[in-house]
Order: sequence, then structure tokens, then C-alpha cells
Amino acid sequence: MKHTSVTLKEAKKKGEKISMLTAYDYSTAKLMDQAGIHSILVGDSLGMVMLGYEDTIPVTMEDMIHHTRAVARGAVNALVVSDMPFMAYHRSVSQAVENAGRLIKEGGAQAVKLEGGAEFCPEIRAIVRASIPVVGHLGLTPQSIHAFGGFKVQGKTLSAAQKLIEDAQALEDAGAFAVVLECIPAELAALISENINIPTIGIGSGAGCDGQVLVYQDMLGMYANFIPHFTKQFANVGKLMTEAFQRYISEVQAGVFPTPEHSFQMDKGILKQLYSEKEEPA
Ligand code: KIV
Repeated sequence: MKHTSVTLKEAKKKGEKISMLTAYDYSTAKLMDQAGIHSILVGDSLGMVMLGYEDTIPVTMEDMIHHTRAVARGAVNALVVSDMPFMAYHRSVSQAVENAGRLIKEGGAQAVKLEGGAEFCPEIRAIVRASIPVVGHLGLTPQSIHAFGGFKVQGKTLSAAQKLIEDAQALEDAGAFAVVLECIPAELAALISENINIPTIGIGSGAGCDGQVLVYQDMLGMYANFIPHFTKQFANVGKLMTEAFQRYISEVQAGVFPTPEHSFQMDKGILKQLYSEKEEPA
């Protein structure tokens, strides 16, 4: 079954939890899709886990389109959501619509995500008016790390919690079909989830959200630079990969790989002729 912005909203109504993971390439997207994931987020976290930047700030529209295209080819049933990178929607409403359109038209995404609360409602309204489904993103919004002073849990004071509750409502009113809640207290995320009609997708925000999202390198132990406290490692693929790489290196060095089984054989007669030609005097 193809998951869409509509089926995700229906899932919340039916009390079914939504599963989302990030992916940035064709093969990973295909594996997730075959596993039955509801939605794949081409997050601008790709700046860190795929491109090796310290944060998501340097990610460009070209980066997002390139990776979104690959994911869209691998995702048959999953809803593909593509992140709008830093400064791709901050300058004007028309810039936001233009860039959201590029992620759909050139990237093949079926929805876009952008960070920010009530202050970005004009942009969200305009993108939704262009028939592009929008996911909001509140709490620890990584594009604002310089304003936050680092990767810190958000919404811990009364005023900050009230602002998040209001922002979530504003996003729903502006037409967003879902909202990611990143690194906010579990009780607050549960309250927001009860207050609004669109699904909340939590990351580090507890079990009261309507769905969950994780960065796949984090849940597979493939990115050791920064391991968020909220991440659960579902498999240590990073360790498996390192061990496989080491085995490959030692087999190549020892001449154990490749064996005839991993090689192509030649017609013996032709081979004989090649050798005799080589041996003929010049
Ligand atoms: O960029 C990303 O991967 C995200 C998730 C962490 C929600 O925004």
C-alpha cells in the first residue's frame, strides 16, 4: 500500500503508530521500503552522516535534490519527505514555494519538511496552496543550533513549553499534515500530540508521539562522531562493516581472495594460442 500524507493522518485517527527513518540513497531506501516503513525522510542530517559536515548548515538544495532522487527511486510504498535546507525558505514566501517545488519536481519527493513554528506559517500556507504536503519540525531544530547555543533539549521552561504548544497548533492551522517533535520532554510531546489532529513524529521526545523517526546511521551504529542519548541501536551494522572491511583487506593481502569461484575462465584453446603467440620469436 502506498503511504501518503492522507494515510498518515488516517493512521493517527485509527491510533496506529507511524514509523519513519531517514535514508539518503537508493539501496537503503529500497531495504526500508521492503521492510514496510511508512515514510522515509531525506533529512538534511545527510550533511553530517553522509557528507561529514559538523552540522546541517552547509547543506544545499542541490545536495537535497541529488539524495532525494536516489531515495525516491528506491521507495515504492513509503512516503518520501525531503528536508528544505538552511536558507532555502528563509528569504521569502516565493523562495520557499520555489524550493519546495524543486524537491517535488526534480527530487521526486512527495512532501517537504521545514523547521520552525508560527513565524514560518506564511511559507507553509503558500507551499500547501501549491498542493505540496508539508511536515513541520519543532523543538531542537538543528538549523538553529547557533541561536540555541548547541544541541540542547527544548521546551523545558513554562514559556518555552507554551510556545511549542502554540507553534504546533499554528502549524496545523497553516495546513501542515504532520509535525516532527525533536528533543522535547516526553510529557510535553504527549500533551502536544493530544492537542492537535495531525500526527506528531517524535525523535528523542518519548512514546506519547503518534510516530517515531530515527537517523538510520544512529540506529545501526554507523556514525560514532555523535551518539544522541535518545538513540536505540537496533543492530551494530557499523561493527559488522568494519569487521568485513578488515577481513577483505587481509584476504587481498594474503592472496586468498579472489578464488577461481570469484573469477571468469577462458577457453583453453584460445589461452594456448595467446601463450604460443607470446613465445614466438620477433
Ligand atoms: O534531518 C533530519 O534527519 C531530521 C530528523 C532528525 C528529524 O530532521
